[in-house]
Parts: sequence; structure tokens; C-alpha cells
Amino acid sequence: MLNTLSPLAKDLAGQSYPHPHYFQTQHRLRSLIDDYLAVEKLQERLQDLPIQFDNPQSRPWKLINWQAINRNQIIGIDAEVFLAILIGAMDTEAPIRGYTQTSRQYLEELHPQMARFVGGTIGEDGDFLELGLWEKEERQHTPALIKVYTQLTGEKITPKLRTVRGYLPSDDPYEDLYRHGLHRTATEYGATCLYLWLMAHTTGALQDVLEELAKDEINHLTKFWGFGVWAFPDSSLTRIGRTLIKTRSHNYKRNNLLRTLRRMMGTLNWNSWTLSNKATLILTFIYAMRRLWSWNNSLTPEYLQSLFGMSH
Ligand SMILES: [Fe+2]
Ligand SMILES: [Fe+2]
Repeated sequence: MLNTLSPLAKDLAGQSYPHPHYFQTQHRLRSLIDDYLAVEKLQERLQDLPIQFDNPQSRPWKLINWQAINRNQIIGIDAEVFLAILIGAMDTEAPIRGYTQTSRQYLEELHPQMARFVGGTIGEDGDFLELGLWEKEERQHTPALIKVYTQLTGEKITPKLRTVRGYLPSDDPYEDLYRHGLHRTATEYGATCLYLWLMAHTTGALQDVLEELAKDEINHLTKFWGFGVWAFPDSSLTRIGRTLIKTRSHNYKRNNLLRTLRRMMGTLNWNSWTLSNKATLILTFIYAMRRLWSWNNSLTPEYLQSLFGMSH
């Protein structure tokens, strides 16, 4: 229907335009971030974590009309660039099993319940007794992106399986968990921003899929972040910055956020983005961080203790 392309059409990001200019896209982004990263919603997602420890339940997705996904639902990005971003996202999401098991190992001794939440339970013989909730929710992402890609191109695609940096303990498990957890949280934040940004550049069924991905990432981001603030109350911005940027050279060379960013920019085909695409993505990172920061300031030690300290 022509209606879907009229400038007055509404979608999850507010007003949608067939050929948005910079400020229209910026407006869509703001409205998405205000909505999906509202402080009350972040609070809800964190409050949910101790409940999930006791009774893990996947967050159900809304019904998606996969057949309706088409290229006209991409707005304000070149379709080829959009597809390159999809591939980049797929390659970053997979292989989730490697990620969850590494995280489980870092958490196992220090917080068994969080270890179970991310990586499930492993029996004596190394078999899975139960999957972690994080894995259950995340492992839907790559197939969803593949389905979208196929729907848009008519082609099948298989993600490149990168090798995951495995469990590499030092003699300080507490510091190991800090470093590892911080990188995990940064990754969830990056994914959150990317999917919100893609939501601003899509409409219809295509946007519906990205909404579910964004919601999952926001859910996990909130939980990892809140748990991290509880477990490491003495963390300062300086320490965070130092940990993210510093390379742990005695063990391996690649644990460095800047390298990760550079790699991601490569897989996301950053060089062929328009100036407006680049500027709005950077804005997304800034707005989202502002939102998260005001929520972060509401996380008092007493409140966090009431969530994670009692029976846990
Ligand atoms: Fe994901
Ligand atoms: Fe994630």
C-alpha cells in the first residue's frame, strides 16, 4: 500500500519518512531511546534478575510477519550497506555457545546463580543439564538475522564462526570477572545501540524483528550492568576506562576494546556509510549512555543488596 510510504505513517520510532533527512532520523532515534531506555523499563529488567535466578523464563517475542519483510522497509540507508550491517551483526552474535560458556566459567566460583543464568548447568560428564537463560535468548538472534537476510535477498547465508577467546584465568578470579564482565557489558551496550539505530532506519515487519533483538540486548545489558555495579561497587570511571582499553599483554594481545571496535567497524562496512549514518550512530551511543547513566545513578547499594544480597 502507498500508505506505508507516506510521510505521515507511524511506526515504533514515531513518524516515518521514505527519505528522511538527518534531523528526522535524529528525532526517530531520540524517541526510540526515550521509550526503550526509559528508567522505569531499565529498573524492571534489573528487578527481574533475582526472579530469573529462581525460575528462568525466556522473554517471549511478539508474533512477526516474516513474509512481509521487504527492501522498502529499509529507510535512510543504502540497501547494500544495510545488508553488510546484517552480516556484521550475525558474525558478532555467533557463536553464542562459546560466549556463554566462557562467561559461565568466570562466574562459577564467585556467583553460581549468575553463572547458571548465563551458561546453564553442566553435569559431571560435561553434558548440559540445562541451558542458561542468556544463551536461550541470545541464540535466537543469529537465526533471526539470517531469516531477515534471506527474506531481503532471496539468498541463503551462513555466518562466519569466529573463534571465541576462551576462559583464561589468572591468579585473581575477582579481577578476571571484572575484566570479563566489563567487556560483556560493553558488547551488550554496543548491540543495544546498533539495533536501536537500525530500528530508526526501518519500518514494518523488518522493524519488528529489530525491536525484539533490541529488547533482548537491553534486557541483558541491564542485568549485567546492575549485577556488575553490585559485585564491584568500588569501580570508578577511570578503572572502567583503563580496563576496557588496556591490553593484557602477558596472556594474550587482543583483549582491547579499541581493537574490538575497529574489527566491528570493518565487519559493519563503516567506510561505505554516509556522513548522516555515521553521525546518527555516534549520537545513539551518546543518548543511550546518558539514559543508562541516569538509571545507574538510581542504583543505590541498599537497593542492589536487596536484589542480590539476601538469599543469593
Ligand atoms: Fe544478541
Ligand atoms: Fe547480546
